[in-house]
Amino acid sequence: MIETTTHSSVQDAATARGLTKTYGRAGTEVHALRGIDVDLPAGRFTAIMGPSGSGKSTLMHCLAGLDQATSGQVTVDGTRLADLDDTALTKFRRDRVGFVFQSFNLLPMLTAGQNILLPLELAGRRVGRPERERHNQIATVLGITDRLGHLPSQLSGGQQQRVAIARALISNPAIVFADEPTGNLDSTTSAEVLGFLRTSVRELGQTVVMVTHELDAAAYADDVIVIADGRVRSHLTNPTRERLVSALTGEALSGGTV
Ligand SMILES: Nc1ncnc2c1ncn2[C@@H]1O[C@H](COP(=O)(O)OP(=O)(O)OP(=O)(O)O)[C@@H](O)[C@H]1O
Ligand SMILES: [Mg+2]
Repeated sequence: MIETTTHSSVQDAATARGLTKTYGRAGTEVHALRGIDVDLPAGRFTAIMGPSGSGKSTLMHCLAGLDQATSGQVTVDGTRLADLDDTALTKFRRDRVGFVFQSFNLLPMLTAGQNILLPLELAGRRVGRPERERHNQIATVLGITDRLGHLPSQLSGGQQQRVAIARALISNPAIVFADEPTGNLDSTTSAEVLGFLRTSVRELGQTVVMVTHELDAAAYADDVIVIADGRVRSHLTNPTRERLVSALTGEALSGGTV
């Protein structure tokens, strides 16, 4: 790793220590993660960048408890994921983690509003007044109030992704993970969706971690973690575009904090 920024004064929403992930059997194994240490500070928007195949999605899946690391520790919201059995992990993911995928993943037979409330229904949580207020606040922030009665097929791609973000936010998770959330959107709609993720951090105090290929998308983030070949190459705080480009292109960065 070329440079590190520690956030010792900031509470971390998630941390990883010595994380490795190896796919396949001896002889043909793929080392997707080769010893990752990261701290994801709460209340910030962090982008994970790096070349295709560098391990970004694998890292995100291990941090989110969707996949199990080969070795190392993941802590999310103060809970060590390794301490949870399958049932507890499923419940933890449902209650404490939100997901946004490239392909929206909305249920086609439910309206936008029903899709947003689905995580609460699945958790068997009563949708009372506080939940409705949060639902309304999120819908207002995301600008989808007048679309809540529509089916996903009646919405544009950008509107569908906003509904997916609202669904990820509804249970007030400790952290929202988004893997290429703008990968299927045009540049104008991408900017809107990124703006809403940014707003969820600023106005709702949400912690967001987003995997992205796009330099423009990373510009919305507070922090950028650059992964290369299963390792953290750099962890930049509020990087300028120039610093980001040099970190991504692998130019030697000579120490110092960013
Ligand atoms: N289920 C799997 N079985 C075997 N190898 C895998 C599996 N999933 C990922 N890999 C390998 O692990 C490495 C990291 O993959 P990963 O999907 O994390 O990359 P990525 O950085 O997200 O790439 P992209 O930008 O293309 O989405 C790659 O070499 C990939 O081929
Ligand atoms: Mg990926």
